[in-house]
Amino acid sequence: MPPEVRIPAPAILQPLLDRVPALRLIGNTPLVRVTAFEDSHPGVEIHAKVEYFNPGGSLKDRPVLRMLAEGIAAGRLTPDKTIIDSSSGNAGIAYAVIGGALGYKVEIVIPDNASKERLKRLAAHGAKITHTSAQDGYDEAIRTVRRIVAASPEKYFYCDQYSNDGNWRAHHETTAPEIWAQTEGRVTHFVFGVGTGGTITGIGRRLRELNPDLQIELLVPDAFPGVEGLKPLGSPGDHVPEIYDTTLASRTWDVDDEKSWQTSQILARAGLFAGQSSGACVATAVRVAQDLSRRGQPGVVVTMLCDIGERYFSTRLWDV
Ligand SMILES: Cc1ncc(COP(=O)(O)O)c(C=O)c1O
Repeated sequence: MPPEVRIPAPAILQPLLDRVPALRLIGNTPLVRVTAFEDSHPGVEIHAKVEYFNPGGSLKDRPVLRMLAEGIAAGRLTPDKTIIDSSSGNAGIAYAVIGGALGYKVEIVIPDNASKERLKRLAAHGAKITHTSAQDGYDEAIRTVRRIVAASPEKYFYCDQYSNDGNWRAHHETTAPEIWAQTEGRVTHFVFGVGTGGTITGIGRRLRELNPDLQIELLVPDAFPGVEGLKPLGSPGDHVPEIYDTTLASRTWDVDDEKSWQTSQILARAGLFAGQSSGACVATAVRVAQDLSRRGQPGVVVTMLCDIGERYFSTRLWDV
């Protein structure tokens, strides 16, 4: 059993945690051993960080809390400002939950094919929603935010999670030390993909600092638009986020939608109710573990359960 650990909150977060005690629920998530596939990789362990335990139901609470804290500390996010960003899902919900609890107005620009459960969650926390055409893709939501901010820069705090260093720093300072302590330094492989690049960059950098031999296994959805939350990096027209550190990955693994969905469904029956990208992560972790096991090498493979399964009721994921 991994030990119970609590990593103290970084000093920059403290004023926010003092103001809104509910924000202390962010981070220090459990690490659970995934046993559902163990027969196929004897001698190798897989563990997953249960990020859906965060109050916003995803791994995005940590970076959003950090980016807002840095904005406040720098005097850029003041009480008169509206927090704005584009997001088709979890980051938007994190802005709504955290920004709303801190007393800020929050405006999320979102393509109009966003699911009802996401829109309702945003509304529940008081966020304003601005729609863009789904046909014009997610990039149109980004262009729209930039137009809105350019028209009234004094009114907005634009977080821009794709280029904000607070995004990866959140994982560098909290998620990675938690993984290290929870595995008692035994982690040998970290498996993840790229949405904004914050998770893999922050965790990858810190775990490598702690163990230079740590292997970082990059998973890439093999088709456009990819698995919800993970980019099909390198496909035509796909832009590589500024904060993603392209030097980290030791190997790259393709993963397809069908396999990701099947894996989420198996995890659900094993008591872990997470979304589609979590299925992609665990499916890839299983391949990494099988590869080690075939070569007779022990290993401790860690990945993430990124968000809560309920977020996908209006998709085909749970049509089983
Ligand atoms: C469900 C889900 N999985 C994975 C990711 C990727 O995380 P990151 O943005 O840190 O690369 C995200 C990010 O938005 C997400 O919402």
